[in-house]
Amino acid sequence: MSIFNVELKKVIDDSYEIEIGYELQKKLIADINAGLGGNIKKYVVVTDSNVKPLYADKILELLISNGYKADLIVFPAGEENKTRKTKEYVEDTMLELGYRRDCCIIAVGGGVVTDLAGFVAGTFGRGIPFINYATTLLAAADASVGGKTAVDTPLATNLIGLFNQPEKVYIDIATWKTLPARQISSGLAETIKHACMADRKFFDYINDNMQAVFDVDDEVCGHIAQENCSIKYKVVMKDELESGLREILNLGHTVGRAIETVSEYILLHGEALAIGLMAEVKLAKKLGYCTDLDETLVQDILEKAKLPTKIPDYIDREKLLKKLYTDKKVKNGALRFVLQKGIGDVVSFGDNLYAKEIPESVAREIIMSM
Ligand SMILES: NC(=O)c1ccc[n+]([C@@H]2O[C@H](COP(=O)([O-])OP(=O)(O)OC[C@H]3O[C@@H](n4cnc5c(N)ncnc54)[C@H](O)[C@@H]3O)[C@@H](O)[C@H]2O)c1
Repeated sequence: MSIFNVELKKVIDDSYEIEIGYELQKKLIADINAGLGGNIKKYVVVTDSNVKPLYADKILELLISNGYKADLIVFPAGEENKTRKTKEYVEDTMLELGYRRDCCIIAVGGGVVTDLAGFVAGTFGRGIPFINYATTLLAAADASVGGKTAVDTPLATNLIGLFNQPEKVYIDIATWKTLPARQISSGLAETIKHACMADRKFFDYINDNMQAVFDVDDEVCGHIAQENCSIKYKVVMKDELESGLREILNLGHTVGRAIETVSEYILLHGEALAIGLMAEVKLAKKLGYCTDLDETLVQDILEKAKLPTKIPDYIDREKLLKKLYTDKKVKNGALRFVLQKGIGDVVSFGDNLYAKEIPESVAREIIMSM
Protein backbone atom coordinates (compact mmCIF):
# COMPACT_ATOMS: atom_id res chain seq x y z
CA MET A 1 0.00 0.00 0.00
CA SER A 2 1.14 3.58 -0.48
CA ILE A 3 0.26 7.05 0.74
CA PHE A 4 -0.58 9.67 -1.85
CA ASN A 5 -0.21 13.23 -0.70
CA VAL A 6 -2.91 15.57 -2.06
CA GLU A 7 -1.48 19.10 -2.08
CA LEU A 8 -4.36 21.59 -1.95
CA LYS A 9 -2.99 24.71 -0.32
CA LYS A 10 -5.27 27.65 -1.04
CA VAL A 11 -4.79 31.36 -1.14
CA ILE A 12 -8.24 32.91 -1.12
CA ASP A 13 -9.21 36.54 -1.46
CA ASP A 14 -12.75 36.85 -0.13
CA SER A 15 -12.65 40.65 0.09
CA TYR A 16 -15.80 42.51 -0.85
CA GLU A 17 -17.46 45.90 -0.62
CA ILE A 18 -20.23 47.01 1.69
CA GLU A 19 -22.09 49.95 0.18
CA ILE A 20 -24.21 52.05 2.51
CA GLY A 21 -26.70 54.39 0.83
CA TYR A 22 -30.27 55.17 -0.10
CA GLU A 23 -32.39 53.40 -2.73
CA LEU A 24 -29.55 51.30 -4.06
CA GLN A 25 -31.56 49.08 -6.44
CA LYS A 26 -30.33 50.86 -9.56
CA LYS A 27 -26.78 50.91 -8.22
CA LEU A 28 -26.98 47.14 -7.72
CA ILE A 29 -27.97 46.64 -11.38
CA ALA A 30 -25.28 49.09 -12.55
CA ASP A 31 -22.69 47.08 -10.58
CA ILE A 32 -23.95 43.82 -12.10
CA ASN A 33 -23.77 45.39 -15.57
CA ALA A 34 -20.22 46.48 -14.75
CA GLY A 35 -19.18 42.92 -13.85
CA LEU A 36 -20.08 42.31 -10.19
CA GLY A 37 -20.31 38.54 -9.99
CA GLY A 38 -18.28 37.98 -13.16
CA ASN A 39 -20.08 37.27 -16.39
CA ILE A 40 -23.14 35.74 -14.82
CA LYS A 41 -26.39 36.25 -16.73
CA LYS A 42 -28.77 34.38 -14.42
CA TYR A 43 -29.97 35.70 -11.08
CA VAL A 44 -32.23 34.24 -8.42
CA VAL A 45 -33.73 36.84 -6.10
CA VAL A 46 -34.49 35.20 -2.74
CA THR A 47 -36.77 37.11 -0.41
CA ASP A 48 -39.58 36.76 2.11
CA SER A 49 -43.30 37.47 1.80
CA ASN A 50 -43.08 40.94 3.41
CA VAL A 51 -40.07 42.22 1.47
CA LYS A 52 -41.24 40.90 -1.91
CA PRO A 53 -43.74 43.67 -2.71
CA LEU A 54 -41.70 46.36 -0.97
CA TYR A 55 -38.26 45.91 -2.58
CA ALA A 56 -37.63 42.53 -4.22
CA ASP A 57 -40.18 42.89 -7.07
CA LYS A 58 -38.41 46.08 -8.18
CA ILE A 59 -35.01 44.37 -8.25
CA LEU A 60 -36.44 41.49 -10.28
CA GLU A 61 -38.02 43.93 -12.73
CA LEU A 62 -34.72 45.79 -13.16
CA LEU A 63 -32.80 42.55 -13.75
CA ILE A 64 -35.24 41.40 -16.41
CA SER A 65 -35.37 44.79 -18.13
CA ASN A 66 -31.57 44.75 -18.24
CA GLY A 67 -31.60 41.47 -20.16
CA TYR A 68 -30.84 38.95 -17.42
CA LYS A 69 -32.65 35.67 -16.79
CA ALA A 70 -34.09 36.20 -13.35
CA ASP A 71 -36.64 34.64 -11.03
CA LEU A 72 -37.99 35.43 -7.61
CA ILE A 73 -38.21 32.80 -4.89
CA VAL A 74 -40.31 33.84 -1.93
CA PHE A 75 -40.78 32.12 1.43
CA PRO A 76 -43.07 33.14 4.31
CA ALA A 77 -41.54 35.84 6.55
CA GLY A 78 -40.43 34.95 10.06
CA GLU A 79 -37.65 33.30 12.03
CA GLU A 80 -39.67 30.08 12.23
CA ASN A 81 -39.05 29.70 8.48
CA LYS A 82 -35.24 29.89 8.68
CA THR A 83 -35.11 26.13 8.42
CA ARG A 84 -33.59 23.30 6.40
CA LYS A 85 -37.09 22.80 4.95
CA THR A 86 -37.15 26.33 3.51
CA LYS A 87 -33.58 25.87 2.25
CA GLU A 88 -34.71 22.71 0.47
CA TYR A 89 -37.69 24.58 -1.00
CA VAL A 90 -35.43 27.33 -2.39
CA GLU A 91 -32.96 24.77 -3.79
CA ASP A 92 -35.63 22.59 -5.41
CA THR A 93 -37.35 25.62 -6.92
CA MET A 94 -34.03 26.82 -8.36
CA LEU A 95 -33.42 23.39 -9.89
CA GLU A 96 -36.95 23.21 -11.32
CA LEU A 97 -36.52 26.67 -12.84
CA GLY A 98 -33.39 25.42 -14.61
CA TYR A 99 -30.72 27.15 -12.52
CA ARG A 100 -27.40 25.33 -12.24
CA ARG A 101 -23.91 26.48 -11.28
CA ASP A 102 -23.81 29.49 -13.61
CA CYS A 103 -26.09 31.69 -11.52
CA CYS A 104 -25.92 34.10 -8.64
CA ILE A 105 -28.31 34.57 -5.71
CA ILE A 106 -29.41 38.03 -4.61
CA ALA A 107 -30.74 37.93 -1.04
CA VAL A 108 -33.17 40.81 -0.51
CA GLY A 109 -34.39 41.17 3.05
CA GLY A 110 -33.48 40.98 6.70
CA GLY A 111 -31.21 38.58 8.52
CA VAL A 112 -33.49 35.60 8.01
CA VAL A 113 -33.25 36.00 4.22
CA THR A 114 -29.52 36.79 4.09
CA ASP A 115 -28.63 33.91 6.48
CA LEU A 116 -30.72 31.39 4.57
CA ALA A 117 -29.91 32.54 1.03
CA GLY A 118 -26.19 32.75 1.83
CA PHE A 119 -26.30 29.16 3.07
CA VAL A 120 -28.17 28.03 -0.07
CA ALA A 121 -25.50 29.75 -2.18
CA GLY A 122 -22.75 27.95 -0.26
CA THR A 123 -24.05 24.48 -1.08
CA PHE A 124 -26.05 24.86 -4.35
CA GLY A 125 -23.98 23.16 -7.06
CA ARG A 126 -21.17 23.07 -4.42
CA GLY A 127 -21.15 26.83 -4.24
CA ILE A 128 -22.40 29.78 -6.28
CA PRO A 129 -21.88 33.50 -5.64
CA PHE A 130 -24.39 35.61 -3.72
CA ILE A 131 -25.09 39.28 -3.06
CA ASN A 132 -26.82 40.67 0.04
CA TYR A 133 -29.29 43.52 -0.22
CA ALA A 134 -30.08 44.24 3.44
CA THR A 135 -33.45 45.79 4.29
CA THR A 136 -33.44 45.77 8.11
CA LEU A 137 -31.33 47.61 10.66
CA LEU A 138 -30.48 44.26 12.20
CA ALA A 139 -29.21 42.85 8.92
CA ALA A 140 -27.25 46.05 8.32
CA ALA A 141 -25.80 45.98 11.82
CA ASP A 142 -24.86 42.36 11.84
CA ALA A 143 -26.55 39.57 9.89
CA SER A 144 -25.76 40.55 6.29
CA VAL A 145 -22.10 41.35 6.96
CA GLY A 146 -19.43 38.99 8.23
CA GLY A 147 -20.08 35.88 6.15
CA LYS A 148 -21.88 33.71 8.68
CA THR A 149 -24.80 31.90 7.09
CA ALA A 150 -27.09 29.38 8.73
CA VAL A 151 -30.50 27.93 9.41
CA ASP A 152 -32.13 27.13 12.74
CA THR A 153 -32.93 23.66 14.06
CA PRO A 154 -35.55 22.62 16.65
CA LEU A 155 -32.73 22.47 19.26
CA ALA A 156 -31.39 26.00 18.75
CA THR A 157 -30.76 28.81 16.27
CA ASN A 158 -28.02 28.91 13.63
CA LEU A 159 -26.61 25.45 14.34
CA ILE A 160 -26.27 24.36 10.70
CA GLY A 161 -24.48 26.64 8.28
CA LEU A 162 -21.33 27.85 6.60
CA PHE A 163 -18.87 30.68 6.63
CA ASN A 164 -19.56 32.08 3.18
CA GLN A 165 -18.67 35.58 2.05
CA PRO A 166 -20.91 37.52 -0.37
CA GLU A 167 -19.75 39.28 -3.54
CA LYS A 168 -21.05 42.56 -2.15
CA VAL A 169 -23.40 43.87 0.53
CA TYR A 170 -25.83 46.74 -0.05
CA ILE A 171 -27.21 48.49 3.01
CA ASP A 172 -30.20 50.48 1.82
CA ILE A 173 -31.13 52.84 4.64
CA ALA A 174 -34.22 54.05 2.74
CA THR A 175 -35.74 50.59 3.33
CA TRP A 176 -35.73 51.16 7.10
CA LYS A 177 -38.56 53.65 6.58
CA THR A 178 -41.04 50.80 6.12
CA LEU A 179 -39.73 48.82 9.11
CA PRO A 180 -42.15 48.53 12.04
CA ALA A 181 -40.77 50.28 15.18
CA ARG A 182 -40.40 46.89 16.88
CA GLN A 183 -37.94 45.84 14.14
CA ILE A 184 -35.96 49.08 14.54
CA SER A 185 -35.68 48.27 18.26
CA SER A 186 -34.53 44.76 17.41
CA GLY A 187 -31.78 46.15 15.16
CA LEU A 188 -30.80 48.64 17.84
CA ALA A 189 -30.00 45.71 20.15
CA GLU A 190 -27.13 44.55 17.89
CA THR A 191 -26.05 48.18 17.54
CA ILE A 192 -25.98 48.66 21.33
CA LYS A 193 -24.06 45.38 21.62
CA HIS A 194 -21.38 46.75 19.29
CA ALA A 195 -21.12 49.89 21.40
CA CYS A 196 -20.99 47.95 24.69
CA MET A 197 -18.14 45.76 23.48
CA ALA A 198 -16.07 48.25 21.52
CA ASP A 199 -16.89 51.95 21.65
CA ARG A 200 -18.04 54.14 24.52
CA LYS A 201 -18.38 57.19 22.23
CA PHE A 202 -20.72 55.24 19.97
CA PHE A 203 -22.73 54.18 23.04
CA ASP A 204 -23.24 57.85 23.94
CA TYR A 205 -24.07 58.70 20.31
CA ILE A 206 -26.83 56.07 20.19
CA ASN A 207 -28.16 57.28 23.53
CA ASP A 208 -28.26 60.90 22.36
CA ASN A 209 -29.79 60.14 18.95
CA MET A 210 -32.23 57.36 19.76
CA GLN A 211 -35.36 59.15 18.52
CA ALA A 212 -33.62 60.05 15.25
CA VAL A 213 -33.02 56.34 14.62
CA PHE A 214 -36.74 55.61 15.04
CA ASP A 215 -37.44 58.54 12.69
CA VAL A 216 -34.94 57.06 10.20
CA ASP A 217 -33.05 60.32 10.01
CA ASP A 218 -30.64 60.04 7.06
CA GLU A 219 -27.56 61.39 8.79
CA VAL A 220 -27.96 59.53 12.08
CA CYS A 221 -28.86 56.23 10.41
CA GLY A 222 -25.94 56.62 7.98
CA HIS A 223 -23.57 57.10 10.92
CA ILE A 224 -25.07 54.14 12.79
CA ALA A 225 -24.70 51.87 9.72
CA GLN A 226 -21.10 53.02 9.20
CA GLU A 227 -20.10 52.47 12.84
CA ASN A 228 -21.72 49.03 12.99
CA CYS A 229 -19.78 47.88 9.93
CA SER A 230 -16.57 49.41 11.14
CA ILE A 231 -16.75 47.78 14.59
CA LYS A 232 -17.79 44.41 13.21
CA TYR A 233 -15.15 44.42 10.48
CA LYS A 234 -12.27 45.30 12.75
CA VAL A 235 -13.07 41.99 14.42
CA VAL A 236 -13.98 39.87 11.38
CA MET A 237 -10.89 40.87 9.40
CA LYS A 238 -8.70 39.58 12.24
CA ASP A 239 -10.63 36.38 12.91
CA GLU A 240 -12.99 35.39 10.10
CA LEU A 241 -13.59 31.85 11.34
CA GLU A 242 -14.16 32.65 15.03
CA SER A 243 -11.07 30.99 16.45
CA GLY A 244 -10.79 33.58 19.21
CA LEU A 245 -11.39 37.32 18.87
CA ARG A 246 -14.60 36.94 16.83
CA GLU A 247 -16.23 35.42 19.90
CA ILE A 248 -16.57 38.95 21.31
CA LEU A 249 -19.37 39.55 18.79
CA ASN A 250 -21.21 36.99 20.88
CA LEU A 251 -21.64 39.40 23.77
CA GLY A 252 -25.19 38.96 25.08
CA HIS A 253 -25.83 36.04 22.73
CA THR A 254 -25.16 33.16 25.16
CA VAL A 255 -28.32 33.99 27.08
CA GLY A 256 -29.96 35.80 24.12
CA ARG A 257 -29.95 32.91 21.66
CA ALA A 258 -31.17 30.52 24.36
CA ILE A 259 -34.12 32.79 25.25
CA GLU A 260 -34.94 33.30 21.57
CA THR A 261 -35.37 29.54 21.13
CA VAL A 262 -37.14 28.90 24.47
CA SER A 263 -39.60 31.72 23.65
CA GLU A 264 -40.38 29.78 20.45
CA TYR A 265 -39.62 32.99 18.54
CA ILE A 266 -42.22 35.10 20.35
CA LEU A 267 -39.21 37.30 21.06
CA LEU A 268 -37.43 38.81 18.07
CA HIS A 269 -33.69 38.17 17.79
CA GLY A 270 -32.83 41.67 19.05
CA GLU A 271 -35.34 41.50 21.90
CA ALA A 272 -33.83 38.23 23.10
CA LEU A 273 -30.37 39.75 22.69
CA ALA A 274 -31.35 42.76 24.83
CA ILE A 275 -32.27 40.43 27.70
CA GLY A 276 -29.02 38.57 27.07
CA LEU A 277 -27.01 41.82 27.22
CA MET A 278 -28.69 42.64 30.52
CA ALA A 279 -27.96 39.18 31.95
CA GLU A 280 -24.34 39.36 30.82
CA VAL A 281 -23.70 42.86 32.21
CA LYS A 282 -25.08 41.59 35.55
CA LEU A 283 -22.67 38.67 35.30
CA ALA A 284 -19.79 41.03 34.47
CA LYS A 285 -20.73 43.12 37.50
CA LYS A 286 -20.80 40.07 39.74
CA LEU A 287 -17.29 39.17 38.56
CA GLY A 288 -16.01 42.71 39.08
CA TYR A 289 -15.64 43.80 35.43
CA CYS A 290 -18.58 46.25 35.50
CA THR A 291 -19.96 48.65 38.08
CA ASP A 292 -23.49 49.39 39.26
CA LEU A 293 -23.39 52.47 37.02
CA ASP A 294 -22.45 50.39 33.94
CA GLU A 295 -25.40 48.10 34.61
CA THR A 296 -27.74 51.08 34.95
CA LEU A 297 -26.41 52.64 31.74
CA VAL A 298 -26.99 49.41 29.79
CA GLN A 299 -30.48 49.02 31.24
CA ASP A 300 -31.36 52.65 30.46
CA ILE A 301 -30.18 52.55 26.86
CA LEU A 302 -32.03 49.28 26.20
CA GLU A 303 -35.21 50.69 27.70
CA LYS A 304 -34.81 53.86 25.67
CA ALA A 305 -34.59 51.62 22.59
CA LYS A 306 -37.91 50.06 23.71
CA LEU A 307 -36.26 46.71 24.32
CA PRO A 308 -37.03 44.24 27.12
CA THR A 309 -34.52 43.94 29.98
CA LYS A 310 -36.19 41.22 32.05
CA ILE A 311 -36.84 37.58 31.33
CA PRO A 312 -40.57 37.30 30.55
CA ASP A 313 -42.67 35.27 33.00
CA TYR A 314 -43.64 32.74 30.33
CA ILE A 315 -39.99 31.64 29.98
CA ASP A 316 -39.26 28.45 31.91
CA ARG A 317 -35.99 29.31 33.73
CA GLU A 318 -34.89 25.68 34.06
CA LYS A 319 -35.43 25.12 30.33
CA LEU A 320 -33.46 28.29 29.65
CA LEU A 321 -30.53 27.14 31.79
CA LYS A 322 -30.47 23.83 29.93
CA LYS A 323 -30.63 25.65 26.59
CA LEU A 324 -27.47 27.60 27.44
CA TYR A 325 -25.54 24.39 26.75
CA THR A 326 -26.49 24.54 23.04
CA ASP A 327 -24.25 27.62 22.71
CA LYS A 328 -21.33 27.15 20.36
CA LYS A 329 -18.86 28.55 22.89
CA VAL A 330 -19.51 25.61 25.27
CA LYS A 331 -16.24 23.67 25.66
CA ASN A 332 -15.85 20.31 27.38
CA GLY A 333 -19.39 20.64 28.68
CA ALA A 334 -18.72 24.00 30.40
CA LEU A 335 -20.59 27.27 29.80
CA ARG A 336 -18.38 30.10 28.50
CA PHE A 337 -19.35 33.78 28.39
CA VAL A 338 -17.94 36.90 26.75
CA LEU A 339 -17.86 39.63 29.39
CA GLN A 340 -17.91 43.35 28.89
CA LYS A 341 -15.41 45.52 30.75
CA GLY A 342 -17.20 48.72 31.60
CA ILE A 343 -18.88 50.28 28.56
CA GLY A 344 -16.96 49.95 25.30
CA ASP A 345 -14.57 47.09 26.03
CA VAL A 346 -14.49 43.35 26.68
CA VAL A 347 -12.36 41.30 29.03
CA SER A 348 -9.42 39.42 27.53
CA PHE A 349 -8.59 36.19 29.37
CA GLY A 350 -5.23 35.54 27.72
CA ASP A 351 -3.79 35.11 24.27
CA ASN A 352 -6.73 35.31 21.81
CA LEU A 353 -9.09 34.15 24.57
CA TYR A 354 -12.25 36.18 25.13
CA ALA A 355 -14.72 33.79 26.72
CA LYS A 356 -14.61 32.73 30.34
CA GLU A 357 -15.81 29.48 31.85
CA ILE A 358 -18.69 30.20 34.25
CA PRO A 359 -20.09 27.63 36.68
CA GLU A 360 -23.75 26.82 36.11
CA SER A 361 -24.53 27.91 39.67
CA VAL A 362 -23.45 31.48 38.81
CA ALA A 363 -25.43 31.53 35.55
CA ARG A 364 -28.40 30.15 37.49
CA GLU A 365 -28.17 32.90 40.11
CA ILE A 366 -28.25 35.62 37.41
CA ILE A 367 -31.13 34.04 35.49
CA MET A 368 -33.21 33.44 38.62
CA SER A 369 -32.69 37.10 39.63
CA MET A 370 -34.19 38.38 36.36
N1 LIG B 1 -25.24 35.91 10.19
C1 LIG B 1 -25.01 36.64 11.25
O1 LIG B 1 -23.87 36.99 11.56
C2 LIG B 1 -26.17 37.12 12.06
C3 LIG B 1 -25.99 38.11 13.02
C4 LIG B 1 -27.11 38.56 13.73
C5 LIG B 1 -28.36 38.03 13.47
N2 LIG B 1 -28.49 37.06 12.53
C6 LIG B 1 -29.80 36.50 12.21
O2 LIG B 1 -30.62 37.54 11.68
C7 LIG B 1 -31.99 37.19 11.90
C8 LIG B 1 -32.73 38.41 12.37
O3 LIG B 1 -32.65 39.40 11.37
P1 LIG B 1 -33.86 40.41 11.10
O4 LIG B 1 -34.26 41.04 12.36
O5 LIG B 1 -33.47 41.25 9.96
O6 LIG B 1 -35.03 39.39 10.75
P2 LIG B 1 -36.01 39.20 9.51
O7 LIG B 1 -35.28 38.93 8.27
O8 LIG B 1 -37.01 38.18 9.96
O9 LIG B 1 -36.72 40.62 9.36
C9 LIG B 1 -37.58 41.07 10.36
C10 LIG B 1 -39.01 41.32 9.81
O10 LIG B 1 -39.02 42.51 9.06
C11 LIG B 1 -39.55 42.28 7.75
N3 LIG B 1 -38.85 43.22 6.88
C12 LIG B 1 -37.60 43.12 6.39
N4 LIG B 1 -37.24 44.26 5.79
C13 LIG B 1 -38.30 45.09 5.87
C14 LIG B 1 -38.53 46.43 5.48
N5 LIG B 1 -37.58 47.16 4.93
N6 LIG B 1 -39.75 46.98 5.72
C15 LIG B 1 -40.71 46.28 6.36
N7 LIG B 1 -40.54 45.02 6.79
C16 LIG B 1 -39.34 44.44 6.56
C17 LIG B 1 -39.31 40.82 7.50
O11 LIG B 1 -40.20 40.31 6.56
C18 LIG B 1 -39.53 40.24 8.89
O12 LIG B 1 -40.90 40.08 9.13
C19 LIG B 1 -31.99 36.05 12.89
O13 LIG B 1 -32.26 34.87 12.19
C20 LIG B 1 -30.57 36.00 13.41
O14 LIG B 1 -30.15 34.72 13.79
C21 LIG B 1 -27.43 36.61 11.83
